[in-house]
Amino acid sequence: MAAFLGNLRNVVIAGLVLAILVIAVRFSYGGLDFAGEAFWAYIIRVLHVISGVMWIGLLWYFNFVATPTMPSIPAELRPALGKYITPAALFWFRWGAMSTLVFGILLAGINRYIVQAYTLDIVNDPTGKAFGTPSYLLIGIGMWFATIMWFNVWFVIWPNQQKALSLNPAYANLDAAARTAAGGTAGRFSRINTLLSIPMLFCMVAASHMP
Ligand code: HEM
Repeated sequence: MAAFLGNLRNVVIAGLVLAILVIAVRFSYGGLDFAGEAFWAYIIRVLHVISGVMWIGLLWYFNFVATPTMPSIPAELRPALGKYITPAALFWFRWGAMSTLVFGILLAGINRYIVQAYTLDIVNDPTGKAFGTPSYLLIGIGMWFATIMWFNVWFVIWPNQQKALSLNPAYANLDAAARTAAGGTAGRFSRINTLLSIPMLFCMVAASHMP
């Protein structure tokens, strides 16, 4: 058992198998059409939420755990974080952000409201006043918040973390002041994303489930 749990790949495969078993039980009740659009929309929705958990989980790890704990870590131990843990976390963080965006846009496409959502349903109002349909408005605001967050990850946080942690040979000659400034910028945008993540999640869930 210890050997099994010690291997992350085995654990992920076991989780997937268990999920498939649950779907199989649901299938035995009938009415589940594996070839239908609704089923594949469901799979994409699940992949979207799993990617989102990977992304926002790591965002909250940085903000709720790593950053506040940093001042109490003895100076000689801090390099372990910057050299090993944070770079590995940043890999899953930025690709989690990418797959969340891709699956989210696919979902909006399958739901046939991608234009209505990203325009906050202004397209449906000939007077040019926004907000024809509340659920389009809500998912649209959520999608904008999340898309801004994705932009911050890929075009602000990641480049600045590469500078701050010397993860890219292109920044090898940066001085300590420039590295500290880059770390500060990455940290501020990470905080902005933490702020946006809260209303973003309210909107994501409201679109389909707000009464
Ligand atoms: C990056 C840009 C994003 C886009 C374009 C996007 C798009 C969407 C869309 C279109 C839906 C509606 C699904 C449906 O009800 O059919 C949705 C739902 C949802 N999204 Fe996102 N999303 C994004 C980011 C995120 C993030 C970062 C999370 C974090 C976990 C997230 C979590 C959710 C959740 C929990 C739902 C609700 C699923 C449900 O109620 O069934 N999304 N998203």
